[in-house]
Amino acid sequence: MITAICPGSFDPITLGHLNIVRRASRIFERVVVLVMVNAAKPSPMFSIAERADMIRRVTAGMGNVEADTCNGLLAEYAKRFEHPVVVKGLRASTDFEAEFQMAQINNAINPGLETMFLTSSEKYTFLSSSVVRELAAYGSDLSDFVPREIIDEVLAKARTHGGKTNG
Ligand code: PNS
Repeated sequence: MITAICPGSFDPITLGHLNIVRRASRIFERVVVLVMVNAAKPSPMFSIAERADMIRRVTAGMGNVEADTCNGLLAEYAKRFEHPVVVKGLRASTDFEAEFQMAQINNAINPGLETMFLTSSEKYTFLSSSVVRELAAYGSDLSDFVPREIIDEVLAKARTHGGKTNG
């Protein structure tokens, strides 16, 4: 059985992420959404456990999808599966260089570990967790950007992280 691993920082998971996970779940028998540390993003809004918990709730209806967490290297984590494949969404050419590099590093550490990309749905090309965090800081309507199950949680967390006001 091929296991798709969808890694990311998911701080928080967006509708764009969820679109990729749903599509991966139609292609692969098992999908693990893996919450990881991105060294380039040192001050996350949510803890890794909180992010995984949100993912579990918003993917509850997808029977072959699970969430996990990992503080280490993706290439090492993948070794626990017999047939792993890393699946990521690609939004635009701006994503390409970093994703290309990560796929090659992962393959160098764990030869045979392939990375596959699903092109982002057009309506989510602009969307990122950082955009969501920015909007949330202003108390903006998030219903087009994050799954409804976590909207209140994201807005509440943004308030405690020093929300901003318009004007
Ligand atoms: O959602 P993101 O922040 O673009 O995801 C990036 C992530 C977390 C997948 C990447 O930073 C990662 O794989 N981190 C784990 C550590 C690792 O394996 N690094 C090797 C690639 S440089």
